[in-house]
Amino acid sequence: MRLVRAAGHRRGGVGEGVLIPPPLLDRIARAVGTPVYVYDAAVVRERYRVLSAALAGIPHRIFYSVKANSSLAILGIIRALGGGADIVSVGELVRAKRAGFAAPDIVFSGVGKRPDELAAALDAAVALIHVESSAEFHTLAALATARSRTVPAGIRVNPDVTTHTHPFTQTGQKGMKFGVPLDEVEPLAEWAAREPGVTLVSIGMHIGSQILDAAHYRAGAARLADLVERLRARGITTLTSVDVGGGLGVRYLDERPLDPEEFVAAVRPLAEATGLPLAVEPGRYLVGPAGMLLTRCLYRKCSGGRHFVIVDAGMSDFVRPSLYGAAHDVRVVDGAGGTDAGDEPVDVVGPICETGDVLARGRTLPDAAPGALLAILGTGAYGFSMSSTYNSRPRPAEVLVDGGRWAVIRQREVLEDLMRGERTLDAITDWVSA
Ligand code: LLP
Repeated sequence: MRLVRAAGHRRGGVGEGVLIPPPLLDRIARAVGTPVYVYDAAVVRERYRVLSAALAGIPHRIFYSVKANSSLAILGIIRALGGGADIVSVGELVRAKRAGFAAPDIVFSGVGKRPDELAAALDAAVALIHVESSAEFHTLAALATARSRTVPAGIRVNPDVTTHTHPFTQTGQKGMKFGVPLDEVEPLAEWAAREPGVTLVSIGMHIGSQILDAAHYRAGAARLADLVERLRARGITTLTSVDVGGGLGVRYLDERPLDPEEFVAAVRPLAEATGLPLAVEPGRYLVGPAGMLLTRCLYRKCSGGRHFVIVDAGMSDFVRPSLYGAAHDVRVVDGAGGTDAGDEPVDVVGPICETGDVLARGRTLPDAAPGALLAILGTGAYGFSMSSTYNSRPRPAEVLVDGGRWAVIRQREVLEDLMRGERTLDAITDWVSA
């Protein structure tokens, strides 16, 4: 199987994942080097279209969760499609603006926004700032009042919904750091109604990531619908939207991905009960299946009965398998005609000095001889955006394929990038006495 395509169903004639011909991947890898992230613009567009079509009967707006893949060119694709941006830091604010998003297309979320970040978002006049605690709401109101402004704000609610995702990507359960506990929302909203610096325009949730069962959205949406009704009964009439967050799950290996139609069926009652437009914040759904990480096989080896394919990408480039035990599909793009391969199940491992630096476990990759080009699929989301320079490894390049053309959208880092701002011990001449 040499055609690189994520396992999965076809929808509307476009596969679940990337469909870039292997000879092109080979040319890209030779021209740019490995490891390299390669994204397919057509897949991002198609997935945006499918989600929009599923939401078509409901007033809605899609705010792309920038953290999933914050590369400027990827942001540019979403912006051109008419999407907004869901940001969680000033860094993402600057990126979103650089990519061309206008302030009214940007919403600011996040559990720990610094006062200077809230101030920057206020000054930029973003559409909405979601708060996650009463203390943060007070800080925001004070900043707005000091500027003689009234800021549109939302409350991210913790709806106490448990999702069956990896524990690290659950967020909607009682006792987690995310959101305002359900029973604290009403008094907080009443406080906000009296506060000149803020107008409560949104109630929202984000219950977790890589959700494959729409029932979780249905449960959360029902809690939000009840809450909106209770707020209205208390005379709060300023709401203009309800936010159902992101988290739509995709197929990485053999999961049944969440069908956008099922997602919409689960959240539609919230729009109908409240009469409010929905905001949706997908990240992974839009970009995850659109990306792959190309890496070259350096060596094969056997130790203690286990077989290893050692590649030039590691957990610094792609951390999901190490951090969450995520299982991504791995394909051989070009086996390099090697003779040093075999049929036994292999672990695909990186060069980093950590036992956890494993990219895939127990795979059958008979063509993965030294020199072979491999593709780790489904890495368009939380791939590059979670990369690091651990082991002083420059981060990979990123390439965008768009129809019959491709371009480098981020150059591979060089070692000088990693040492920028550092000084050798000998160069320090301005010690400060302690
Ligand atoms: N909205 C909020 C408030 C979020 O915190 C997130 C993700 C999203 C939307 C988008 O979630 P998505 O649709 O991409 O699942 N690094 C983990 C995922 C962490 C997600 C954090 N928040 C992973 O690689 O699975």
